[in-house]
Amino acid sequence: MSVLSGKKILLGITAGIAAYKTASLVRFFIKLGAEVKVIMTPASKDFITPLTLSTLSKNPVHSTFYSKEDENELWNNHVDLGLWADYMLIAPATANTLSKMANGVCNNLLLATYLSAKCPVYFAPAMDLDMYKHPSTKESLEKLQSFNNVMIPATSGELASGLVGEGRMAEPKDIVSFIENDILLKLPLKGKKVLITAGPTYEAIDPVRFIGNHSSGKMGFALAKVAANLGAEVFLISGPSHQQIKHSFVKRVDVVSAAEMYTASHQYFNDCDIAILSAAVADYRPKNIVSQKIKKKDATLNIELEPTKDILASLGEIKKHQFLVGFALETNNEIENAKSKIKRKNLDAIVLNSLQDKGAGFATNTNKITIIDKNLNEKPFELKSKTDVAVDIINEIIIKLNA
Ligand code: CTP
Repeated sequence: MSVLSGKKILLGITAGIAAYKTASLVRFFIKLGAEVKVIMTPASKDFITPLTLSTLSKNPVHSTFYSKEDENELWNNHVDLGLWADYMLIAPATANTLSKMANGVCNNLLLATYLSAKCPVYFAPAMDLDMYKHPSTKESLEKLQSFNNVMIPATSGELASGLVGEGRMAEPKDIVSFIENDILLKLPLKGKKVLITAGPTYEAIDPVRFIGNHSSGKMGFALAKVAANLGAEVFLISGPSHQQIKHSFVKRVDVVSAAEMYTASHQYFNDCDIAILSAAVADYRPKNIVSQKIKKKDATLNIELEPTKDILASLGEIKKHQFLVGFALETNNEIENAKSKIKRKNLDAIVLNSLQDKGAGFATNTNKITIIDKNLNEKPFELKSKTDVAVDIINEIIIKLNA
């Protein structure tokens, strides 16, 4: 999945011949799952029609603050457009527009939107070779980069003038890859490896029966997705769960029993930077697994249970640089119990769910948590969807790692 999937991209087009290539640029973004809105400078419409771009982007294309022909048309709010975008890209960016951007000139909708945008801004210059080399253009390019705008450098080749040299707008597919790579490199968990356990474990009684629990795995899968979207390489060790995940940064390892989860967790832990153990691991398992299906015979049946190994505590014992996070599901004396688990299991933080809170815990789509760190500071959160809870947990970990 691309980092651009689900992202809102505002494409600003200015009046260079490379504008004709923006049709394929829009298509590439849409194919990657991004939403695209286009703004054009009035002169750029000589190179490509707004109809082409609105058809491809499935959104209206704007080039003026309002339409003179249609007095009922709403004012095109540049502030809203600027705030809507996750990323703004100006391509092609002519010498004229670059100079205006660098100097705060604001005489069209595109420039007003650029000045209002709070998101990262990329620009792909396109012009003739001598214009590209000119000191005033160089000054604009440097100034814009000093404002933290990101330049997608022009390439060398045949130019519209017939001359050959530097100044061609980067090819649309290269612009898209450039932006994807740039976003990836700046992601807060880039280069980090994260181990996550999720779901229940099943402890066999005989070939057809087991001891299990109602954990759905939703919380752990949401954590895996959020961590991967922030650039982490995730090892998701899951007990039996119907949850699905498709993400190129997530390696899913399916296990059934606590013993299998223990082995898999230890296999990946040493290499990891962060481990979040959200699985609802069985605390006990049948001492002897009966090899044939148990027949109904007596009025009662006793199954002797023995403790499983505590995966979280065992990782706490061997941890070196890893940031280790446990979960605690409690029904009473929640805070005290959670705090004692931090100490007992040598954790960096614990995520507490209380079954006294409505909407928290197993098999729901929501959760209400309190995060307690190793210094026993408590941070309570509102009832939220498990995806939003996952965002809160990962953000807290990032804050602690950077503290
Ligand atoms: N856990 C684990 N391995 C086990 C049992 C639990 O890794 N065999 C982990 C869970 O994934 C969770 C944390 O330990 O992160 C807390 O589990 P919980 O059952 O709430 O706590 P326990 O330590 O089992 O204590 P108690 O049952 O007394 O509450």
